[in-house]
Amino acid sequence: MLSIKNLHAYYGQSHILQGIDLEVPAGAVVSLLGRNGAGRSTALKAIIGEVQAQGSVRLDDAEMIGLPQHRVARAGIAYVPESRDVFPELTVRKNLSLGMKRGPGGESKWKLEEMFQRFPRLAERAEVNAGSLSGGEQQMLTICRSLLGNPRVMLVDEPTEGLAPKVVAQVAELLSDIAAAGVGILLVEQKLTIAMRLSRTVHVMGRGQIVYSGSPEALTAQPEIFRQWLAV
Ligand SMILES: Nc1ncnc2c1ncn2[C@@H]1O[C@H](COP(=O)(O)OP(=O)(O)O)[C@@H](O)[C@H]1O
Ligand SMILES: [Mg+2]
Repeated sequence: MLSIKNLHAYYGQSHILQGIDLEVPAGAVVSLLGRNGAGRSTALKAIIGEVQAQGSVRLDDAEMIGLPQHRVARAGIAYVPESRDVFPELTVRKNLSLGMKRGPGGESKWKLEEMFQRFPRLAERAEVNAGSLSGGEQQMLTICRSLLGNPRVMLVDEPTEGLAPKVVAQVAELLSDIAAAGVGILLVEQKLTIAMRLSRTVHVMGRGQIVYSGSPEALTAQPEIFRQWLAV
């Protein structure tokens, strides 16, 4: 559904993304792994048009490269950046309602009340300011807000960073639920165990290129890839 071919991006003179190819099918989690600085966040930003890019990013048959960011979002690609960007002075409910929009076909698959049912913690805190939530709750809120935009694909950058293990498990479960509902997820994740458990396909990035692609099971049989590109 999301098909990326020969994606390049630059920061000034630095050639950061050097020809990325990958696909994110509907209902699948696909992970981008790699060390810090490998270019994973840049890849997500290039896909949504935050960083200028060359190559092809197709959502079904529509080309996204060259479109302004809001058009990419409207086409159905949601981006959840590393920084949990909630509006701290607004209530949880208001934060969520700001994310609501109909899908490309006019449908509205995800609803506010459903978010509250799935995440009683958000319901309990519906009327408090988002700034008072814990890091994990803010991450859930950010993901749920994106979901209310009825995306076809979500790009999620290191959602479990800095979270307590119990909350990490909840975020992982949320992502798994979202994929099960048919949304494609391109996940950048530092925690290999989470990425390996959720993903249909993993891509390992090194220095702006994909150096390995395969199933999580196949990657575990490649100690050399781990040693060269993933071990810290
Ligand atoms: N805004 C920027 N300006 C210049 N260089 C950047 C910028 N953002 C990232 N980089 C550089 O691009 C490379 C890839 O960074 P990034 O995509 O953030 O990697 P990752 O997310 O895998 O840690 C790094 O060398 C980083 O220093
Ligand atoms: Mg990053």
